[in-house]
Amino acid sequence: MKIYIPRDAAARALGSDEVAAAVQAEAAKRGLTVQIVRNGSRGMVWLEPLVEVETPNGRTAFGPMTAADVAQIFDGGPLALGPTDALPWMAQQTRLTFARVGLIDPLSLSDYEAHGGLSGLRRALGMDRPAIVAEVTDSGLRGRGGAGFPTGIKWKTVSEAKADQKYIVCNADEGDSGTFADRMLMEGDPFTLIEGMVIAGLATGATKGYVYIRSEYPDAIEVMSEAVILARKAGVLGAAVMGSAHAFDMEIRVGAGAYVCGEETSLLNSLEGKRGVVRAKPPLPALQGFLGRPTVVNNVISLATVPVIFERGAAFYKDFGLGRSRGTIPLQIAGNVKHGGLFECAFGLTLGQIVDAIGGGTMTGRPVKAVQVGGPLGAYFPRALFDTPFGYEEFGAKEGLIGHAGLVIFDDSADMLKQARFAMEFCAIESCGKCTPCRIGAVRGVETVDRIAKGDSAAIPLLTDLCNTMKSGSLCALGGFTPYPVMSALTHFPDDFAPMKEAAE
Ligand code: NAI
Ligand code: SF4
Repeated sequence: MKIYIPRDAAARALGSDEVAAAVQAEAAKRGLTVQIVRNGSRGMVWLEPLVEVETPNGRTAFGPMTAADVAQIFDGGPLALGPTDALPWMAQQTRLTFARVGLIDPLSLSDYEAHGGLSGLRRALGMDRPAIVAEVTDSGLRGRGGAGFPTGIKWKTVSEAKADQKYIVCNADEGDSGTFADRMLMEGDPFTLIEGMVIAGLATGATKGYVYIRSEYPDAIEVMSEAVILARKAGVLGAAVMGSAHAFDMEIRVGAGAYVCGEETSLLNSLEGKRGVVRAKPPLPALQGFLGRPTVVNNVISLATVPVIFERGAAFYKDFGLGRSRGTIPLQIAGNVKHGGLFECAFGLTLGQIVDAIGGGTMTGRPVKAVQVGGPLGAYFPRALFDTPFGYEEFGAKEGLIGHAGLVIFDDSADMLKQARFAMEFCAIESCGKCTPCRIGAVRGVETVDRIAKGDSAAIPLLTDLCNTMKSGSLCALGGFTPYPVMSALTHFPDDFAPMKEAAE
């Protein structure tokens, strides 16, 4: 009997280790031999720990499981959910980047290959550099870290740069509130990221890669480190990648907890052993990045999407999506929501469909007041904008951003003035201090919001002014994007900023 119990950090936080031990003990009590596979999460966090049993007709799910309930796995009971793939959350998705997450044993290369792994790399090995770059460009893939820059163009810049050494750096410093796609991918299907990085190496002539993982992700660090060792042993990494004339090897590096190290130049400084301070651009990292050499800096999801593009072809991938947002996007639905988790689908669903139909509304059952899309630097969207389709340009047109595709949902008890204050406070705490609009502006921003809270209406235009200065004058996205949550809160929820509000209360 094969039983799948996630080793994903979210499932472990909800007790999957205890459940695994209890399943083992229950099986022993019944004289049954069970094989427990510690897989990644299927992404239905509200059902974790989600236990799956392999049957001749596919896997059946049980959850949310506790150690006290494990007898139900053998006898049936109210936690039996039926076939996993038929659960509406699973059935409605288009899983391309996350196709294997939750399905395979994350650290089994044979399981990986049996589910299509390495076929993209094999195809890429038969192509020359410009053809590999063209395939990525043609797929329409854009940077999934948040900026949405075309991945193929970035790779072309690095590919055409002349240098004795080039690098691939994977940004796994996933710091946005409500985001967990990078973590889930690394914990559930680490070889996909490795394969994507090797293909990036082939495309650009880079022979060395680094994955910069935030220290708050110990499970991801462990799985990725082990996967790199296994990939090396199997010849996927090393002096002769898959027996070819190409060399590529990589290392895992651990960050030290600064949000700003998710910004690429700050990350590169940190990787070089320096303080995580933002560097002015130009020069672009694509031309002068790690140790001054041409460097591809891509997010985990961008790189982990590359294998499927090579496996199925650029045209197949590009066929999904909306406008200039091609392919699929792993949405991370979090906050005060009934069904939170990871949902991968083609671009184009409206925000309302995501929040109401997929997320199921709020956990508290109260009306949704706002959704912050794109992390702590993303705008708050009111219900009036729920018809916005999920796409880079579509959100930009509404003064928002999709960022890393994290959505944090708030019910009507949220105070948007407090959320605006939080954005300024967050920026003040996390600022690297290099430029004045952010370093000083964020501190003044907190003070200005406090003045508004005390009923000083003259401070409202001051806050708008300050936001404009931060937006246009900051060196990087931290100071430059903090105005998004602040201004969206002010614009869409003016009642929460009404003078004398505090006094009246
Ligand atoms: P950006 O727009 O300055 O650059 C995007 C990328 O394109 C960079 O890698 C840049 O080096 C590259 N690039 C630009 N022109 C190029 C060219 N001609 N050739 C080659 N490469 C070129 O954006 P930035 O500051 O890197 O990222 C901002 C985004 O980061 C925001 O949209 C925000 O949503 C996101 N973000 C994500 C976080 C996360 O946890 N994933 C945390 C914080 C922010
Ligand atoms: Fe540093 Fe903030 Fe300026 Fe970015 S905007 S460079 S985090 S001070």
